[in-house]
Amino acid sequence: MKKIVVLTGAGMSAESGINTFRDSGGLWEQYRVEDVASIEGYIRNPELVINFYNERRKQLLTVKPNRGHELVAALERYFDVTVVTQNVDDLHVRAGSTNIIHLHGELMKATSTRSPNDPTQIQTLTPDRMEIHMGDKAADGSQLRPFIVWFGEAVPKIEDAVEEVMQADICIVIGTSLNVYPAAGLVRYVPEDSPIYLIDPADVAWTAMRPYTHIKKGASAGMEELFDKLKVHC
Ligand code: OAD
Repeated sequence: MKKIVVLTGAGMSAESGINTFRDSGGLWEQYRVEDVASIEGYIRNPELVINFYNERRKQLLTVKPNRGHELVAALERYFDVTVVTQNVDDLHVRAGSTNIIHLHGELMKATSTRSPNDPTQIQTLTPDRMEIHMGDKAADGSQLRPFIVWFGEAVPKIEDAVEEVMQADICIVIGTSLNVYPAAGLVRYVPEDSPIYLIDPADVAWTAMRPYTHIKKGASAGMEELFDKLKVHC
């Protein structure tokens, strides 16, 4: 079976109703990224940051995977698929993808402030216990925090992601402006003879990039087009 690695960003979930970050009307027009998505912001005002992610989590209950997520999951019928996502939502999971690397963490999980990447500290939140509050404690007794990789923090899953990308026979990039490193650097590890498909309705400014095929459509329509094309070659 050929291996496909799918790299996704906020545009993957846009058609489900979750705002992207950098498009017009995106989240970073409404909030200062350094306040709500950096480790410095969290140290300065943990309550603000915890509440920001409580709101994001509540929104997640109101949305569903879109056709694009479903088709990414359906690729598993024909290919060995790994999804490497920058998204913290659980829409790839709910759509049925079984092999997902969440580079920037997961909204539906909480962890300890002292050791955020210690697996024994990570807990799953549930619809009936969605919110984190000041004073909630992780197993190690430190303040419970969202399981999100913030600006200024290491990205522990990046090495696993690089390994997957290096084995890709085909790479699909969906809905990311490729502004944020190290995720943005992953495309450089795609083997030279493996094709790269980009699905994004806008032009994406990729630097130092090899040729790629741009399907200039949204995630759902773009995946419909690509799915049929790839099925023939599997
Ligand atoms: P961006 O908001 O930077 O980019 C979203 C991309 O999705 C853009 O290229 C859009 O053109 C594209 N897009 C918009 N609508 C689309 C649709 N319907 N279908 C497909 N693509 C569409 O989001 P990311 O690149 O994911 O990190 O941002 C990367 C990281 O920056 C995020 O993980 C987050 C953010 O700050 C943290 O918070 C740590």
